[in-house]
Amino acid sequence: MKRRRLLLGGLLIASLMITIGCGGNQSANQSTSGSKTLTLLTSPDYPPYGFYDTAGGARKIVGFDIDIANYVAKELGYELKVQESDFNGLIPALQVNRADFVMAGMTPTDERKKNVDFSTIYFQAKNTIVALKGNNLAKAENFAGKRVGVQLGSIQEGDLKKISEKVQGIQIKALNRVPEIIQEVKAKRIDAAIVEDTVIQGFTKANPDLEYNVIPSEGPSGSAIAFPKGSARVAEFNQVLEKMKTSGELDRLAKQWFATSAPASPSPSPTK
Ligand code: ARG
Repeated sequence: MKRRRLLLGGLLIASLMITIGCGGNQSANQSTSGSKTLTLLTSPDYPPYGFYDTAGGARKIVGFDIDIANYVAKELGYELKVQESDFNGLIPALQVNRADFVMAGMTPTDERKKNVDFSTIYFQAKNTIVALKGNNLAKAENFAGKRVGVQLGSIQEGDLKKISEKVQGIQIKALNRVPEIIQEVKAKRIDAAIVEDTVIQGFTKANPDLEYNVIPSEGPSGSAIAFPKGSARVAEFNQVLEKMKTSGELDRLAKQWFATSAPASPSPSPTK
């Protein structure tokens, strides 16, 4: 039994190293150029937070999160290195110190706080139901007997499990990547999905056959930067985030990446 567990643990770590690329470069080490590097781990399936820009044949991870990470790294005197993993593998990777921090539109929940530390919240988001237009799936109460998609390991997966305690016969489809979930809705292999407003706005713009409706959520929302437990960097990062909030830099980046700028602090700021 014990051996089996050891073996499983070993397998998990091995597959993690494959997923996030075992570059051998320890985090925050001295790079060959002599400058110090910080390693960001992200799940680039989440436009506009983090995604692959394929324009001009390039394959580069870009987005709101990446811009913030670059800004913070520069302020703190580091070079930024970006690595990727499935969303579900981000926290396990931090737990084995495979990266210095994670930015992936990640919500700081109490559950996650048991395993990682979080910065202050840098952006707000709300859950929405996305479905093909005219499907009458604007409310979670209408999910009875329906196939509903969520991202594996996301808060949306947890929210859907809670909904299914009240609404009968929901078939939960937990998928790895958000664009896949959107594809499944379009192909009618699922009836609806739960995706954050900040992300679904872009997808519905590109896919006019889709519509979304905001659902009230009781749990925490918004995004924060995650760190290995006990990381000394949390305070430094918070300072730079604070500076970005007061200088208007964060707002400028939000306006650049999001169709509508949402308040960067948990309390709604007055509309300008
Ligand atoms: N905010 C949600 C969460 O923390 C969803 C984040 C999904 N992020 C991603 N890169 N796919 O669970």
